[in-house]
Amino acid sequence: MSDTADHGARAYHRASKHHLDRYAPGPGHLDWANQPDPFRVYAGCERVRLPLLADRLQVSYADVRAGRLPPPAPLDRPHLGALFELGLGLAAWKAYGANRWALRCNPSSGNLHPTEGYLLAPHLPGLPAGVYHYLSRDHVLERRAELSAQAGFPVCVGLTSIVWREAWKYGLRAFRYCQIDTGHAIGALAFAAAALGWRPRLLEQVTESQMAALLGLDQMAAFEAAEPEIAECLLVLEAGQPGSVTDPADALAVVETGRWQGRANRLSAEHRDWPGLLEVGLATIMHTQTAEALHAPPERPRPAALPFDPPLARLIRQRRSAQAFDGVTGVPADTFFSIMARLLPASDVPPWTAWQRAPALHLLLFVHRVDGLEPGLYCLVRTPADLPVLKAAMRPDWLWVKQGPADLPLYLLLPHDLRATAARLSCHQAIAADSCFAVSMLADFAEVDAAPWLYRQRHWEAGLIGQVLYLEAEAAGLRGTGIGCFFDDEVHRLLGLGPDGRWQAVYHFTVGGALEDTRLTTLAPYPEDFGKRT
Ligand SMILES: Cc1cc2nc3c(=O)[nH]c(=O)nc-3n(C[C@H](O)[C@H](O)[C@H](O)COP(=O)(O)O)c2cc1C
Repeated sequence: MSDTADHGARAYHRASKHHLDRYAPGPGHLDWANQPDPFRVYAGCERVRLPLLADRLQVSYADVRAGRLPPPAPLDRPHLGALFELGLGLAAWKAYGANRWALRCNPSSGNLHPTEGYLLAPHLPGLPAGVYHYLSRDHVLERRAELSAQAGFPVCVGLTSIVWREAWKYGLRAFRYCQIDTGHAIGALAFAAAALGWRPRLLEQVTESQMAALLGLDQMAAFEAAEPEIAECLLVLEAGQPGSVTDPADALAVVETGRWQGRANRLSAEHRDWPGLLEVGLATIMHTQTAEALHAPPERPRPAALPFDPPLARLIRQRRSAQAFDGVTGVPADTFFSIMARLLPASDVPPWTAWQRAPALHLLLFVHRVDGLEPGLYCLVRTPADLPVLKAAMRPDWLWVKQGPADLPLYLLLPHDLRATAARLSCHQAIAADSCFAVSMLADFAEVDAAPWLYRQRHWEAGLIGQVLYLEAEAAGLRGTGIGCFFDDEVHRLLGLGPDGRWQAVYHFTVGGALEDTRLTTLAPYPEDFGKRT
């Protein structure tokens, strides 16, 4: 692996780093007049209303995290509605003074929500064959294309990004946030599907241009005045036996003969370009079929049982990001170890069932308040084979003392009070210090140099880890917050890594006892009569 490999992904990553003395290029202020509309709407599409079913799903989170899924629900309109409700739907409206904003089941950097969700479905009960866009504001599917009722192909959920939504606030770093948000959305959909007994799977044998065709992103007339969307990924929904349906190419010919309708809304009156954003999007698209690169995730230790057992649907909808932590709440070591075990992929436990690849991220943990564990810097080595590689890459004076249960690959590097360090590395945010523990996710960029589209995948994996942390935090009576703002090379410097080498920090996270902002009013996600429609 070359330290100086310079292609689109590497160059973008370097240019979008925050430094202690200078942030990545960004607007520096918020242009409120051009704040992007958080909801994409296609005018002129037939709308399919979806019922609200989530409250009726009693599947326990404890069961799902142990890999016990309920019998698969039928693939029909009401259950697909529940998938979108719990995956990408609204969870609440918040109000403060005259301001009102929606929060969703999936989190998003700056609550800007660049991720859009689509459904590609053959004829199903209550749902004619079509390509649909999910509009979370109204909990409806907008039918973008009418497809032949006779056509057979797998049911797929597609995710896209509207990069402008993030660029408006974050400038050049926006592409990273779109990718992490995509990872969160994959996780959110995998958890929502688990409540229905479904196991969605990320498809890798589909190219970017195929995805664009399948989701209608290449229908130029629909986007004439509107901000474009870039294709991210397709998830195939397996409601029956795993492996029974895989080939989205079956749908390509069907979509080509479909009758397309609808025009995307324009989200902002004016836009500002950030040179480098378009380039990294192009540099990281998937061109070739890559199915042969898949690895089966290894079997890993099971997390310990939960002290209590909330329904998964409730947990998903109550998930929120903490704005501040109390600085006193601690977490028992057993709970912490159990959370760590959940971050190790297991081929039969959601959301890892959706993920086909061996782990490429390891976690650095700034442990502040874990009862029974010394405060300090720890490392969760998610691929045991990487242990010697990481040891060799980092400072020689780290301790690497094994901690916790025998089958948990957790190591103490440095016993120390790292609260101030964690906050400083996370753009001086107190949430990284006042929590029980903070995380820096370190991604392996070795393969990214040869296969730049893996740049996106590294960030998806980070988002997926973040989504597990969010739900695990809620289940433990704590709260999590994703942290996209961090000083990249300061993290590398602390660890003794070179600035542009193989290991790169891609995402931070923090978990602790939350302080509620009592000034905010919380409102229901949808009007009451929504629930009564069928
Ligand atoms: C990729 C990503 C980066 C984030 N970065 C930060 C951050 O640096 N600081 C922060 O306070 N919150 C951060 N958040 C939390 C978001 O602000 C939060 O998800 C959003 O406001 C929506 O609220 P919710 O998570 O309660 O739905 C981040 C979230 C994501 C997904």
